[in-house]
Amino acid sequence: MSDLDPFKVFMEIQLGLPRNGPGSREATRAAFKLLPPLPSEPEILDLGAGQGAATLELLRLTDGRVTAVDIMKPFLDRLEANAEGEGVPETRLRTLCADFEDLHLPQGVFDLIWSEGAIYNLGFEEGLALWRPFLAPGRYAVISDCIWKTDEPSLEIRHFWDEAYPSMGTLAENAARAQRAGFEVLGTHWLTEDDWWTEYYGPMKDRIRALLPDYAGAPEALAVFKEEEEEMELFERFQDQYGYCFFVLQAKS
Ligand SMILES: C[S@@+](CC[C@H](N)C(=O)[O-])C[C@H]1O[C@@H](n2cnc3c(N)ncnc32)[C@H](O)[C@@H]1O
Repeated sequence: MSDLDPFKVFMEIQLGLPRNGPGSREATRAAFKLLPPLPSEPEILDLGAGQGAATLELLRLTDGRVTAVDIMKPFLDRLEANAEGEGVPETRLRTLCADFEDLHLPQGVFDLIWSEGAIYNLGFEEGLALWRPFLAPGRYAVISDCIWKTDEPSLEIRHFWDEAYPSMGTLAENAARAQRAGFEVLGTHWLTEDDWWTEYYGPMKDRIRALLPDYAGAPEALAVFKEEEEEMELFERFQDQYGYCFFVLQAKS
């Protein structure tokens, strides 16, 4: 065995992808369209922004300012480079390397909290309750989360998600959690199969294929590749039983 850090390999895969979780530019735009009109220059908080696939889309969709938070500095460095490449003025983007469980940001000022594929780290209800105070009264949150499409999933896929995301809920369960955390549900939008493959799983397959020759003798790296490949294979087999869904929410006054 070498002393290769599996997390380093995981990051090497992720930094070579256009985004860091299931989703697409179209899906971000479709969820955004479900929002009521925002102020002309909204203050937006993107939590678990990764390399900023959604951050950049929000900057295209609005004339507002985005504060992009992630715990992984290399993702935020890539986000800043991409924003610079698109000519985003410095005044419109702030990156913050921080734990979204312990945010030191002003409360009651944001018009929109956006978070794609990250709230599972806290739990849907816990995350919403923790983040709500950062919103101005009556403002909005748009959050994508992995969701059961059935009350009775097959044993194999239940076992996988029980390990990866034990509190994963159904649409109705997450809607009730949002209510309890102080939100009204304004709408929902499911990712399509293409939204998983085009910008995330497809590039991940290519990335693993490209990295394989460099890591052929490293079991730690091969184990990381295998884990990712197993996740993709499970999605191919069980996508009728789970998926990603955006929840478009309004803070109750
Ligand atoms: C599945 S990725 C999604 C990234 C991005 N939203 C996207 O869709 O491409 C989840 C992100 O949440 C970040 N993250 C996980 N736990 C976090 C925490 N406690 N505080 C801040 N960011 C966190 C990870 O670093 C990662 O970038």
